[in-house]
Amino acid sequence: MCGIVGYIGERQAASILLDGLSKLEYRGYDSAGIAVYNGEKIQMSKAKGRLKVLSELTHDGETLPGTIGIGHTRWATHGAPSDANSHPHFNESMSIAVVHNGIIENYIKIKKMLESKGYQFASDTDTEVVAHLLDYYYKGNALEAITKVMHRVEGSYALGILFAEKPDTLYAVRKDSPLIVGKSANGNLIASDVPAVLKYTRDVYFIENEEIAVIQQDNMKFYNMYEEELTKESVKIEWDVEAAEKGGYEHFMLKEMHEQPKAVADTLSPRLKEGKIVLDELNMTEEEMKAIRKIMIVACGSAYHTGVTAKYILEGLARIPVEVDVASEFRYRNPILEEGTLVIIISQSGETADSLAALRMAKNMGSKVLAIVNVVGSSIAREADSVLYTWAGPEIAVATTKAYSAQLIAHYLLAMKLAEVRGTVTLEELAVLIEDLKRIPEQIELLLGNREKIQKFANRYVAAKDVFFIGRGIDYAISLEGSLKLKEISYIHSEAYAAGELKHGTISLIEDGTLVVALLTQEELYKKTVSNVVEVKTRGAVVLSVTNAGNTDMEKNSDYTIYIPKTNKYFTNSLAVVPLQLFAYYISIGRGCDVDKPRNLAKSVTVE
Ligand code: AGP
Ligand code: GLU
Repeated sequence: MCGIVGYIGERQAASILLDGLSKLEYRGYDSAGIAVYNGEKIQMSKAKGRLKVLSELTHDGETLPGTIGIGHTRWATHGAPSDANSHPHFNESMSIAVVHNGIIENYIKIKKMLESKGYQFASDTDTEVVAHLLDYYYKGNALEAITKVMHRVEGSYALGILFAEKPDTLYAVRKDSPLIVGKSANGNLIASDVPAVLKYTRDVYFIENEEIAVIQQDNMKFYNMYEEELTKESVKIEWDVEAAEKGGYEHFMLKEMHEQPKAVADTLSPRLKEGKIVLDELNMTEEEMKAIRKIMIVACGSAYHTGVTAKYILEGLARIPVEVDVASEFRYRNPILEEGTLVIIISQSGETADSLAALRMAKNMGSKVLAIVNVVGSSIAREADSVLYTWAGPEIAVATTKAYSAQLIAHYLLAMKLAEVRGTVTLEELAVLIEDLKRIPEQIELLLGNREKIQKFANRYVAAKDVFFIGRGIDYAISLEGSLKLKEISYIHSEAYAAGELKHGTISLIEDGTLVVALLTQEELYKKTVSNVVEVKTRGAVVLSVTNAGNTDMEKNSDYTIYIPKTNKYFTNSLAVVPLQLFAYYISIGRGCDVDKPRNLAKSVTVE
């Protein structure tokens, strides 16, 4: 998700806001805007497109005089990128301005309540409800209005707020989305991220969840959501700007691996309501869901790998036949799409040329197309009949991690919803699945904690020539992703193989010292895969096994064993992929490769 900035002090705010937003540019975004109090009222300028559009529009901020203001770079989640959907958002009298980073999960309910009281909305965003709700609660006490809003909204937010009636005070609020306050000699700042303030100060307060900062030119106070004042200590930032853009991580890929718990939680929680799965965005009636006779999944690269996983889950839970294909093959093989086939296109960027072409072809053949996309308003999202967004936020590293993990969650939710509607799982089974699903973010967090151990093992294999990833069922799908991660960022040749298929030829390549990564998370296939591990071991292979906690017998067949926490068999990819991502990452570093921008690759392949 993108960024917010704010300033109050003795200098002109607009140029400081634009400069701060430019320091958040690395996070990728689709529109931007600023609002400044000019001594009489709040003025605003906002536009779809890159920051330079806004800079040109405001003559680098000159058209918006004033010494207090807020700014925003948007990574759309609700409401396609457009001028109207850009931030800041206002109440009708333009006396309250809001910028927001995050997702207001219950915005539809609040919007309906406000509309019933005569409020009119100018955008399709979730954020706009905050501006009108502040207006609804504001009776002259800004802090009181803010805390009432905090008790009413659900979801994640970092908010910057201006009240025209309080022109000497800047308000900032945090829940889940990051927020900092910078204290400087000639003014104070708020921002989503450290890079936006480093030019002015290294003296920073990190705002915690459900805290409010009330900032004036010469002082600042902090409160909780019960209006109780808090004492906070500032922190001296020692990072340089580049390190700050990566949140203190060495690479964007490592940062984004560590953002996976939040990407999973953000994709999951808005769709779980009182223990039920709510997927209204499918735009399908229960009858239409029951009428699906086949699912055709089409994607590229890692998105394709989540599709292979989805096949096992949709067939296992919803008992719907599923075919999966890479888009570059699908679009040229004159495919057969019978009546009742749902086509699913998976894409992080929403701009992959082969996947977009596959979508257009499927629609021309009369099939209904569902897109699973991370970029709101992207071509694939716009052209699909319905979209199930992943809310992983901007993904900068070429090698996908958090978007991949969020795509898996989208597949789980879809399969469980279809299974519920088609009656192929009981409500009790569904309840157990939902509980397992909710544990995934914390389990990913746990696995990320192993990174030093994985780095130690990886360092031994930086000179590896050929690496094999093997598994059966969903473990084969996990192998596909583990192999691609290693290849694309370390340039080591590797291949994923269905473990049971090795003996039909490829096993001839196994010799002394060949590294084999074995996935053994599918309990009903465990013994079969163990025998494949023994086969390669007896031929001299070095074996890294990834298996479920408790399968300690694997240690006698492996040179190194990584355990993943227990989860439902359909969800193991979300956990097993984490050590494989870390393994590839540390090998890539050990080989001195450019982790975030690997050779020959682009983040979005918009050409054939
Ligand atoms: C994954 O790490 C690669 N960067 C690549 O395979 C990617 O998944 C593929 O190009 C598809 O991109 P998309 O999800 O944006 O369509
Ligand atoms: N959910 C809000 C929107 O779609 C904010 C997105 C962001 O964090 O940029 O406008």
